[in-house]
Amino acid sequence: MSMVGKKYRVGLVGCGHIASSHLRGWRQARGSSVCGVFDLNRDLAVELATRFGIPMVFQSLEELLESCDVVDICTPPQTHAGILTRVLEAGRLPVIEKPVVVDLADWAALGSKIQADGVELAVAHHLKFTRSFQRCKRWLHEGRIGRVLRIDWHFLTSRETDRMLTGERHWSRELPGGRWFETLPHNLYGIHYLCGAMELSSVTALRTIEAPPGAPADEVVVVLERAGTIATLHFSANCRLNQRKVTLIGSTGVITIDILSDFSWLSRSRDSKMRRPFGRSLTESAEAMIAMIADRPMYLLDRLRRRSPHARFIAAADRSFRGAGPPPTPFEEIDYVTRYCHRIGSEIDRQIRECRPESTF
Ligand SMILES: NC(=O)c1ccc[n+]([C@@H]2O[C@H](COP(=O)([O-])OP(=O)(O)OC[C@H]3O[C@@H](n4cnc5c(N)ncnc54)[C@H](O)[C@@H]3O)[C@@H](O)[C@H]2O)c1
Repeated sequence: MSMVGKKYRVGLVGCGHIASSHLRGWRQARGSSVCGVFDLNRDLAVELATRFGIPMVFQSLEELLESCDVVDICTPPQTHAGILTRVLEAGRLPVIEKPVVVDLADWAALGSKIQADGVELAVAHHLKFTRSFQRCKRWLHEGRIGRVLRIDWHFLTSRETDRMLTGERHWSRELPGGRWFETLPHNLYGIHYLCGAMELSSVTALRTIEAPPGAPADEVVVVLERAGTIATLHFSANCRLNQRKVTLIGSTGVITIDILSDFSWLSRSRDSKMRRPFGRSLTESAEAMIAMIADRPMYLLDRLRRRSPHARFIAAADRSFRGAGPPPTPFEEIDYVTRYCHRIGSEIDRQIRECRPESTF
């Protein structure tokens, strides 16, 4: 593999919204350096290259493949299988945004090739690299909330804040399950990271009169279960609160993760008659406040240093290419997420198509 100045040469494909987060990450990676970018929209590629001081704007994917050791794929999911196939055929190291593929048949072929060739596929499952999830994982490992009984994940969004729900032609509309397929990998690998692979139990998909074209099922609940733990994923396209919140209820405590603030806190307060006059919420708010005072300076420092979860993911991929760390995303995790995204997305589509005419709610 050609390396200049002992650094891997990275080429980034797809210069849209998420590309800047990747480029900021590569800037901090010790063993890799971005040598060029490519986008079907050349103006976007030129603008991004100028902003980040990247020397090369490639004319084609072939040109990029010839010049690079690592290919970072930041294009829409529908294009991933085709681009990833060419990256693997060229023997380059792939880094790719989630969802890895849209079609399960593509994954069957790609997954087999990846395993047969012993290739390391780094998928941008970046929640694993957030402070809040890492801290939650540590608390679970230490048994701080006892046995995990429930995981409740709320993804509450609306047209007001979600660019994928507005406009006429966003690519997420063509995904199985619409907009939810784009975010499902986060939920599934988040759960897999915290508690292991869970089985799909049920999907309930409603289409209300408010349903935006980007989410034909605008109210969805997915239930998963494993060894005495039940997880629910709640998706709403009608909630202006714009929340991404995970609650893990254990036999002796509760962990809450506010994803957008990258903040998690632990509550172990039990009911008692003495506490009732003050209200349980007061004790829990005090616990959250104390945790926040300790946590926020670190959060702000990370932001100042631009140590985003994406940057940490890319640093982990860079270390693993150099043999200095494990792969950021094990194959088993990618396989689980990809298969379940497809199952859930297809089931949402099936219910909307066959079972549930537009509700009058
Ligand atoms: N991890 C996260 O938090 C996160 C957040 C946003 C997006 N994403 C993922 O990142 C990927 C890209 O999303 P986005 O929001 O940046 O999309 P986007 O539409 O903003 O940008 C995609 C870019 O890819 C280009 N493109 C399309 N097909 C191409 C091809 N065949 N070759 C070269 N360029 C091509 C488009 O011209 C566009 O500039 C998606 O898989 C999405 O799910 C992840």
